[in-house]
Amino acid sequence: MKRKILNIGSLNMDMVIGMQYMPLEGETVLGDSLTYIPGGKGANQACASARLGGDVVMLGCVGEDSMGEALVESLRECGADVSRIRTVREVPTGTAVIYVNARGDNSIVVVGGANHFCTVAYLQEHDNLFQEADYIMLQMEIPYDAVFYAIRRAGELKKTVILNPAPAPDGLPEEIWEKIDYITPNETELLKLSGQTQMSMEAIHKGADLLLDRGVKHVLVTLGDKGVFYKDRGEEWFCPTRTVTAVDTTAAGDCFNGAFVTALSEGIPVRQAAAFANAAASIAVTRRGAQKSIPLRSEVDALNYGL
Ligand code: RIB
Repeated sequence: MKRKILNIGSLNMDMVIGMQYMPLEGETVLGDSLTYIPGGKGANQACASARLGGDVVMLGCVGEDSMGEALVESLRECGADVSRIRTVREVPTGTAVIYVNARGDNSIVVVGGANHFCTVAYLQEHDNLFQEADYIMLQMEIPYDAVFYAIRRAGELKKTVILNPAPAPDGLPEEIWEKIDYITPNETELLKLSGQTQMSMEAIHKGADLLLDRGVKHVLVTLGDKGVFYKDRGEEWFCPTRTVTAVDTTAAGDCFNGAFVTALSEGIPVRQAAAFANAAASIAVTRRGAQKSIPLRSEVDALNYGL
């Protein structure tokens, strides 16, 4: 049986600039292309959940402008319920400036705009969505107090919480950790959350242990083209991913998160859910842009990913 997903997060219009290599500080480089593509970690994850078959409703804010309208429309086309997205007057829609180099790597600067209006009061107005949801999914591009409120409320209602800690905060209030069922940092985010600076496999194990000690129930560390590392109190494993030629890694993590939650919402066990999410993200990186790159369910099912 398919259960309900509530995604609370950002919507951004991505201004994507293609270039051979990223400028160094003080350097000017010539770009190859400029495109506007619907994005935002929250919206991308909701889009992935919906496009892959999840029953997802989005809470988030846009400005009263053409970009906001385009973002809501894009998410509607993905199949998400957008009826509760708030349009804020006299504030611009969130924007992200994204540099993508010839290898497909990116650098992103987000200007939050209307995302700052995704407040506790707005979430409280939609408490019925918390009550109806089975899975509550969050990232960190909206005000932190709204994220923490949502996690506390989800805890009271005994809902399953999935936190993608991106961009990584310096830390979380102590009592929040134990209310997180699944946390999905990439390796850099894990290092920051666990106060480490040197990347290594040992650091990833140490970081995952630290989050488990703080009370998180399941840790999934996304490792890009290497796959995902999983750890809980009873087991740990590594789930590799397909080798593909990446053209743009923007929103690969979002695609992973949205796909993972959709699989969980269908009752698929965590290891297979991770394999499904890896497969979805492996398609996303072969396409340009955020929401534009997210595959359909039929495309993921066509891959032999081990479900
Ligand atoms: O994760 C990719 C997303 O990060 C982009 O779509 C951009 O809007 C930023 O939120």
